[in-house]
Amino acid sequence: MKDYMAPMEGVTNFVYRRTYHRFYHPMDKYFTPFISAKPKKNLSFQEICEVSPERNEGMYVVPQILTCNADDFIRTAQLLKDDYGHQEVNLNLGCPSGTVTAKGKGAGFLAEPQKLDQFLDQIFSKLDMKISIKTRIGTHYEEDWEYLLAIYEKYPIHELIIHPRIQTDMYRGVPRLGAYEKAVNRLKMPLCYNGNLFSAADYKRITERFPDTCCFMYGRGLITNPGLVTEIREGIRPDKKTVREFHDCLFEEYRELLSGERNVLFRMKELWSYMAVNFTNYEKYAKKIKKSQHLSEYSSVVSSLFAEQDLID
Ligand SMILES: Cc1cc2nc3c(=O)[nH]c(=O)nc-3n(C[C@H](O)[C@H](O)[C@H](O)COP(=O)(O)O)c2cc1C
Repeated sequence: MKDYMAPMEGVTNFVYRRTYHRFYHPMDKYFTPFISAKPKKNLSFQEICEVSPERNEGMYVVPQILTCNADDFIRTAQLLKDDYGHQEVNLNLGCPSGTVTAKGKGAGFLAEPQKLDQFLDQIFSKLDMKISIKTRIGTHYEEDWEYLLAIYEKYPIHELIIHPRIQTDMYRGVPRLGAYEKAVNRLKMPLCYNGNLFSAADYKRITERFPDTCCFMYGRGLITNPGLVTEIREGIRPDKKTVREFHDCLFEEYRELLSGERNVLFRMKELWSYMAVNFTNYEKYAKKIKKSQHLSEYSSVVSSLFAEQDLID
């Protein structure tokens, strides 16, 4: 069985990944939030931090690329290989955000099958690297999935990570498992399941229905409960002490790396927008965290939360 940390813009950056890796069950792969490949654009300082081996020691990191232009993808992938030693890159065909899809990228690219087919033909013929894809199952209709499967099966995709929602689902509702089943029955390449794995019970349900799937990617469920995969793989129940140590370490790292209280607070508040629900009676603490203006105020609310509440069962 393999476990992957999902790419999540603004959340699963290198700081989060390496802190997670220190405290919890190690992931087999960590995917970076997407890097936008643009003509002539070099990597930004932030992007270099995401992909450089020095900042990601001990972890298998897969850089994710967002583009609908084959030349830009090839150039960026080659740079990731030549300058940072990456042997694998991932193509984002899942981002549902309007600003991305309007440009025909992310999930928006799924609406243009001919163009997508040509794009894949070019990148697979020109790059000597492992190329994996993270995809939704369509843009507006689940029926899109049939033609996408017909395209995917033509290429030597290293691994196809499927988030079985259409673009317009955003993150609402439940994953469309019937579509995932179609892929399991049809495709020969390795598949990875992604979507709504929030608990060990969710994981069990998916493995019972798809016993041949042996690769799982965790996003929001893992950020909410960083002990999720440790529980699934090692049978260790999440405990408050480890969450506290994990939190304190992450907080410390952000304080060292980011300039200004506002930036640190922004990152930590984003994290708590997921983690808070993992605690009993979390509402009033979550509100105070959201409203806090200074690190001292923030630290004091977080300390009260850890002292006064427990992790939910
Ligand atoms: C805040 C946020 C940021 C995300 N950023 C990315 C991204 O950069 N690249 C990507 O492929 N998916 C991104 N995703 C999608 C996740 O990787 C994942 O596919 C999605 O959350 C579904 O999995 P989950 O139900 O386990 O959360 C993002 C999702 C969220 C909520």
